[in-house]
Amino acid sequence: MAASPRWTGFFLTFEGPEGSGKSTQIRRLRDHLVAAGRSVLLTREPGGTPFGDKIRALLLDPGGGPLEPATEACLMLAQRAEHLRQVIRPALSAGTVVLCDRYADSSLAYQGYARGLGADLIRELHERTLGDFLPDLTVLFDIDPAQGLERARHGGKKSFDRMESEAVAFHQKVRNGYLDLAGREPHRFLVIDAAVPPDRVFSALLQGLQERSPGIL
Ligand code: TYD
Repeated sequence: MAASPRWTGFFLTFEGPEGSGKSTQIRRLRDHLVAAGRSVLLTREPGGTPFGDKIRALLLDPGGGPLEPATEACLMLAQRAEHLRQVIRPALSAGTVVLCDRYADSSLAYQGYARGLGADLIRELHERTLGDFLPDLTVLFDIDPAQGLERARHGGKKSFDRMESEAVAFHQKVRNGYLDLAGREPHRFLVIDAAVPPDRVFSALLQGLQERSPGIL
C-alpha cells in the first residue's frame, strides 16, 4: 500500500474552495475504506489536536476581525506542526490510511495566493520547519467559488466563519491558486470536478484513486 518508503501507511489530503462538498465526500470515502478492511484515520485542519482545535477557534471566529496574513500563516503552520508530530506521523508509521480534510495546500492557496504572501514563502516555511511533510496524494475538489458559496447557502448554512465571509474575489484567488498548484505538481494532485451531483463526484473520486493509488482501495 505504501506510496513511498517514508512510511507504511498512506497520506491522502483533500483540498478545495468553500462549498466543494469536500467533507461529505471524505466521510463517504472513509466508510468505503473501513468497509474494505482498511485502518483509517480521518482528521482535519486547522485542528486535529486539542492545541490545533484552540487555534482553529481563534482563526475562524467570525467576530475575530481581520488578521495580518503573517498571523494567519504562522498559526496555520503552528497547528500543522503539532498535528504532524502528535497524530499524522504516528498513524502513518502504524500503517494507517490518513485522510486529512485540508492541509498544507490550503496554506499555499489561502495565505500564499489569496492573501498575497506568495506560495514560495509558504512552501519554504514548510520545508524548513516541518521536514518531510508532503502528502502521498492530494485530491482537489474543484468548483467555481460563486457556485460553491451558493451551494453552502442552499445547504442551509446560515452563519459563515471568518474565511467564508471573504468576498467572492478572494475565493476566486484561492481557486486559481489551487489550480496553479495542481498544474505544477500533476503527479501529486488528483483534480475532481466538484460542480456535478455528489454521487458523480464520489464515482470520479473512486475511479481516480483506482488509477493513481489502487493499493489503498
Ligand atoms: P472549515 O470550516 O474546515 O472549511 P471547509 O469546510 O471549507 O474545509 O474551515 C477551514 C478554513 O480555514 C477554510 O476557509 C480554509 C482555511 N484554511 C486556511 O486559510 N489555511 C490553512 O492552512 C488551512 C488548513 C485552512
